[in-house]
Amino acid sequence: MSPVQQPEEDISLRIQELAGNLKIRDVMTRHVFAVTRTCTMRDVQTIMKNNAISGIPVVDSNHVVGMVSVHDIMSAFEQDWMADAVADHMTTGVRTLSEEQPLSFAMSAFSKFPYRRFPVVNRKNELVGMVTLRNINVALIQELSRQLATMETEGGRVTPPASSDSCIFYRTYRLARYDFESGGKASAELREQLRVRGVAPKTIRRAAVACYELEINIIAHSHGGTLTLYIDRDCVRITANDFGPGIPDVEQAMTEGYSTANDWIRSQGFGAGMGLPNTKRLSDEFAIQSGVDMGTMIKSIVNLNTSEELSDESK
Ligand SMILES: Nc1ncnc2c1ncn2[C@@H]1O[C@H](COP(=O)(O)OP(=O)(O)OP(=O)(O)O)[C@@H](O)[C@H]1O
Ligand SMILES: [Mg+2]
Repeated sequence: MSPVQQPEEDISLRIQELAGNLKIRDVMTRHVFAVTRTCTMRDVQTIMKNNAISGIPVVDSNHVVGMVSVHDIMSAFEQDWMADAVADHMTTGVRTLSEEQPLSFAMSAFSKFPYRRFPVVNRKNELVGMVTLRNINVALIQELSRQLATMETEGGRVTPPASSDSCIFYRTYRLARYDFESGGKASAELREQLRVRGVAPKTIRRAAVACYELEINIIAHSHGGTLTLYIDRDCVRITANDFGPGIPDVEQAMTEGYSTANDWIRSQGFGAGMGLPNTKRLSDEFAIQSGVDMGTMIKSIVNLNTSEELSDESK
């Protein structure tokens, strides 16, 4: 079977989907200039001028402790601080992004904060790159052009990401805040796709319920986002991706019975605080990443052809 096409896809949906699939590490600049606290403002100015950059992170043992911008250099120039150490004039409390976060987190960060670049750190909190709006735009344009070229050669068929030769169904759904009427479309389609493939009812239920919970969470708790379904021969992958507001305490959100649903959401029949713990329980693999003010990305994988399925099928 070939991947199912999505004729109604539009460009902004494609961008949202890409923003969920690409990681910050895929677009960041890896060659980063950084200075230590004892460098002077003049040293920084020289580095900026020679390399045409407008902001430099200040590091201590490769951990970001501040930023110096062109604006800081201009102030230093006016105040006669050019011989001072950067530690005296840098901006502290710098917001960093993690290289493993989806690109959508970086896009949210740029729309919410007045910064023109963010340092990117690895799991050990060490500086590994910088990301600017330009990086993001270039990456999105390149990827969209690549997809367009593929669509042209494949007669308009939308293809799933590279590395998915066994994909049999691939679709992204846009979900708007409080649009409960759209909730359930993805899970209904998933149910049907699995049914026609002869997947065992128990497995269909697990995947469809996980999908539904993630759909509703985007609608009820986020500013809006996308849900991508990807079915291959071995498993169903469900990816929910939104642009904020993020979950401040993921462990708490994963606790049974914890909910921040307001009265209106409760009046729609939701808010028992069971969606996330249930989704995790129903999934063979489950991962959640969330950044306050940036967004939430949740992945659920339900395996097909498991012993559960085989035993169901033999009934
Ligand atoms: N995409 C999201 N964005 C922001 N917050 C979220 C998101 N998904 C879940 N949350 C937070 O996690 C809490 C727990 O989510 P969960 O799905 O378990 O329960 P619920 O949606 O409140 O209720 P239920 O799913 O039982 O109807 C939510 O109340 C909300 O605070
Ligand atoms: Mg929920």
